[in-house]
Amino acid sequence: MAAMLDYLIINASLVDGREAMNIAIRDSKIVEVTDQAIATSELPDDCLYDAKGQLVTAPFIDSHFHMDATLSLGKPRLNQSGTLLEGIQIWNELKPNLTFDAIKQRALKICHWAIGQGTLAIRSHVDICDDALLAVQVLLEVKKEMAPWLDLQLVAFPQDGYYRYKNSVDNLKRALDMGVDVIGGIPHFERTMADGSHSVRSLCELAAERGLMVDMHCDESDDPLSRHIESLAYETQRLGLQGRVTGSHLTSMHSMDNYYVSKLMALMAEAQLNVVANPLINITLQGRHDSYPKRRGMTRVKELNARGINVAYGHDCIMDPWYSLGSYDMLDVAHMGLHVAQMTGVAEMQSTYAAITHNAAKALNLSNYGIAKGCNADLVVLQAKDSINALRLRPPRLIVMRRGQVISTASPNISEVNLGNGVVSIDFNLS
Ligand code: FE2
Repeated sequence: MAAMLDYLIINASLVDGREAMNIAIRDSKIVEVTDQAIATSELPDDCLYDAKGQLVTAPFIDSHFHMDATLSLGKPRLNQSGTLLEGIQIWNELKPNLTFDAIKQRALKICHWAIGQGTLAIRSHVDICDDALLAVQVLLEVKKEMAPWLDLQLVAFPQDGYYRYKNSVDNLKRALDMGVDVIGGIPHFERTMADGSHSVRSLCELAAERGLMVDMHCDESDDPLSRHIESLAYETQRLGLQGRVTGSHLTSMHSMDNYYVSKLMALMAEAQLNVVANPLINITLQGRHDSYPKRRGMTRVKELNARGINVAYGHDCIMDPWYSLGSYDMLDVAHMGLHVAQMTGVAEMQSTYAAITHNAAKALNLSNYGIAKGCNADLVVLQAKDSINALRLRPPRLIVMRRGQVISTASPNISEVNLGNGVVSIDFNLS
């Protein structure tokens, strides 16, 4: 068997708790995951990797991003209030001055960051409230160029409103015709609640007509009466779109009445909605009108999980008008999500890890994802022994592999402490 393999990883720990596992790779696929020995005699040295008990995981997935705005921090100015609305204002000041090359350069740079951090699939919203659809053109080109290295899924996103911006209806259809994958929306930003509901209905009908997925920015506010998620779940059921629709943010759910939420979550579960929360952004943008007590603003991840609703996490923003920080580390996102949702139990921390891996793959409808026989040979070796330590340490991604090929490596993080009695090497793992 060894001579027929392209790559072999031995002594791997897996997210499900199995240890000392061997992972055999051939023709871009995982062909075996076993605790039985696999002959290595005829395998070239540089195609054998001893994981030494460290975690081998499926790649991270970012379920919600804005690649057209990323790395534009400070252009043309910084967000002084730190609010969502000032961010939108700054983006509108920048938009007329964007160029094809500038957007592309920033997008390619962030793709490299993602790969270095072990993120090999990204769902990015792209603003279609620009009649030239410049960002759409750029990101479609980036998607094609990066396809060997990462999966980039694009959402046609009417940032200034589907009805509120005069050309959104036409622009969105044009973007889909050009090859954008998913239908977006922003019902809470329309002029009235009625317009918001109308936009949800029309956009879901368009998705049904074209056989596409839906991912809407939905109820991204602290308004307990912003209830477009109810319309989104209802339209999903009415049109038979179960499993193909995602509600992003849903921060208003944080502030809703508990009785209403219990009714709402039953409807969301029936509609098989996916939910994407964006912990880094929700905790910084929401609650800005509060004094004290100050609401956290993130949607009810723990309760949604308990209802069996698929919850994934997104990074949303990196160094743009809405968020000044970030290095595209999805473990940062999960780490924040775990704290904000108070999900510190062992099973809760494990489900948090799933929010940036398997739950995200489900939301994006990715196939052949995972560390299992028959899956794509896409994986990451982390300098951590299990998923909880990965969340704790956010350690180096020692190897990032795509379709059987190592495309990124990093050195282990080891501190050498010397208190006068010689050097002690520590890597912050307990064993
Ligand atoms: Fe967003």
